[in-house]
Amino acid sequence: MRVDGKAYRTIWVAADGRTVEIIDQTRLPHEFVIARLTTLQEAATAIRDMWVRGAPLIGATAAYGVALAMAADPSDRSLAEAYDVLFATRPTAVNLRWALDEMSAVLAPVAEAERAAAAYAAAARICDQDVAICSAIGDHGLALIRDAWETRRKPKPVNILTHCNAGWLATVDWGTALAPIYKAHDAGIPVHVWADETRPRNQGASLTAWELGRHGVPHTVVVDNVGGHLMQHGLVDLCIVGTDRTTATGDVCNKIGTYLKALAAHDNGVPFYVALPSPTVDWTVADGVAEIPIEQRDPREVSHMTGRTDAGAIATVDLLPAGSEAANYAFDVTPARLVTGLITEKGVCAASREGLAGLFPDLAA
Ligand code: MRU
Repeated sequence: MRVDGKAYRTIWVAADGRTVEIIDQTRLPHEFVIARLTTLQEAATAIRDMWVRGAPLIGATAAYGVALAMAADPSDRSLAEAYDVLFATRPTAVNLRWALDEMSAVLAPVAEAERAAAAYAAAARICDQDVAICSAIGDHGLALIRDAWETRRKPKPVNILTHCNAGWLATVDWGTALAPIYKAHDAGIPVHVWADETRPRNQGASLTAWELGRHGVPHTVVVDNVGGHLMQHGLVDLCIVGTDRTTATGDVCNKIGTYLKALAAHDNGVPFYVALPSPTVDWTVADGVAEIPIEQRDPREVSHMTGRTDAGAIATVDLLPAGSEAANYAFDVTPARLVTGLITEKGVCAASREGLAGLFPDLAA
């Protein structure tokens, strides 16, 4: 996607051919800063501290983290250490494990002298694959938005509610939930996005709003509790969200608060779609609520908030009374029964074992 007229991916190899550059998402929306990762530990920090985030981009960054480790030391011991260090960064998004397994499978049989080059090539393949997958998700989701537009035939835009950030910043390019929106906008279908602010890290307010604005997509940021009200008043035509891990049975784990949106959508007859690349399916898990590990992050992310003052300074303020505790559950699980459909690179399917297996018979087996 383009920023100030220049095309960017969210991660790339620097001109020196070894170090890796990313967009530091902790600085958005107020500053656009490119950060450089030079070591395995820096890649791990970038994932853990959310300079990069979003399931597909976490996977891509982990792949390049392995490449950085192989450039420093291509031994078996170093490969195993890279896997462990990166795997420990964040527990919920399954693309992390998927990317590390892919990298290990490619690199284990390669001679040490060839490993660094093979690692960079494999990481680049993972990134290119993500771009192609997200573009295909966009095409399939575009058909749903076009359908909504043609069915209602109202002069108003199609109103789409999304949660968190599942745009190009969460992937290598295009995004998952936002890819259909970009494609609809580019195809001339009038769309308007309700962007949940997504406390506590505010990915909706900081990132979704920023990237939609850069692309010229009309949008409005709302606080996380507004969705139900909007749906009751006919102001949402469909919801599209992303996911960090989807079970083989179609349960969807996504940013905290997604479940409440799905309940409100169900109660109001609003279609609730989840956009996902196939590496986000965890084929080993059947019951999302019972089996998916839910990340709990630093309570300080709840008790404090960072923003720009009217004077232009970036400042962090404390929100809580002294002595109050805060809890920071980062994800929740929406049961498959609340999901209208899964938008994948192979098409749209029911959120069920049969639906997923129909599109991905080899992976399901
Ligand atoms: O904690 P984050 O920002 O890494 O979580 C990302 C999300 O939960 C997004 O909603 C997204 O849908 C998953 S990645 C496309």
